[in-house]
Amino acid sequence: MLSRRFSCLLTRRCFSSQRRRLVLGIETSCDDTSAAIVSSEREILSEVVRGQRELHEPMGGIVPTLASQGHSRYLPSVIRQTLEDARLTVADLDAVAVTRGPGLPPCLPVGLNAAKTLAAVMQKPLIGVHHMEAHALTARLSDPTLQFPFMTLLISGGHTMLLTARSLGDYTVVCNTLDDAVGEAIDKTARTLGLAWAEKGGPGAALERAAAAGDPDRLAPRLPLPMSTHRNKNTLAWSFAGLKTAVTRLVQLEPSLLDDPQSVSDLAAAFQMTCIRHIEHKLTMALDREIKNTPLTALVVSGGVASNQLIRSRLDALAQSYGLRLVCPPPQLCTDNGVMIAWTGLERFQAGLIDEYTITTRPKWSIESLKEQQDPL
Ligand code: KG4
Ligand code: ZN
Repeated sequence: MLSRRFSCLLTRRCFSSQRRRLVLGIETSCDDTSAAIVSSEREILSEVVRGQRELHEPMGGIVPTLASQGHSRYLPSVIRQTLEDARLTVADLDAVAVTRGPGLPPCLPVGLNAAKTLAAVMQKPLIGVHHMEAHALTARLSDPTLQFPFMTLLISGGHTMLLTARSLGDYTVVCNTLDDAVGEAIDKTARTLGLAWAEKGGPGAALERAAAAGDPDRLAPRLPLPMSTHRNKNTLAWSFAGLKTAVTRLVQLEPSLLDDPQSVSDLAAAFQMTCIRHIEHKLTMALDREIKNTPLTALVVSGGVASNQLIRSRLDALAQSYGLRLVCPPPQLCTDNGVMIAWTGLERFQAGLIDEYTITTRPKWSIESLKEQQDPL
């Protein structure tokens, strides 16, 4: 085990020279097995993502134990390929970063144990990364001018939350979902509509593609806009479970909708538009409130659902109406990837925030609790 004292010396030694730093990032929190090497000069030296569509699509959704087996099978070759593509060895790295949580309980240890072993054997600093902080900070990789404080909307398969990001590790949740994450509702709706997963982006990207050929106005009046009735229209929270169920009920009531490709597209478009209107409604409420309290530099939108082009363009317009610029990482960096883990590892490494080799996974991990760990070694 690397003692805290030794790791302190190690970090100081790394900081003493001005050479560029190299961090390997490993991500196995859900169904993508990924690794990447990123430099302190914002170069992505290599990136390998091994999806698991063939394991989960036949099951109708992600099965955690299958995902874990997939990570065990693919991760060694993913890491080896990442090093080979960058023409580096583990000895060349300054640190190893890995998703520690939140994520699927059987999946996180696969990446964490690999990272711990590599780091311990090679006496490299280890950095356990919060998956959602990584989604947020990817925006600082893609846009070097992005400074704290900013608002960040994180929309993925497991989360829908709006944060005020004040500094590295300092996040306050402003708005959250009461039930499903938007990505979860999208995935289940894509299944209800019988859509085949897209190669990249899975059911969400498939739903976006179907919606592109549809007319949202035909069926949107048949779907409820969540949290908009008299009782809860002023509540600052999202809710997607009822909207998802409304689509299921509609197709139960009118099964013929599923026999007609145009109707499937119209329903996908109506559902997607209702999700977006709901996100906008509560985001507007939150910005009205937050903009008075914090001098914000930007609205960051990230996470897998942020690769959706319609969401990007609608939120760009919304941000502009508040005089904020929208910063969205490129779509391939919005869905889960090793680059975001490597970059967040770099930010933490440069702030002297490294971890012991004894850390364990945190399947449930509040992003606000990162504040309590801000004790640079
Ligand atoms: O961030 P992410 O890759 O994994 C989690 O941390 O959950 O997000 C995955 C979610 C899934 O629900 C997926 O269907 C959705 O992002 N997604 C999309 C698109 N691409 C991926 N949703 C809408 N439009 C897309 N183009
Ligand atoms: Zn994610």
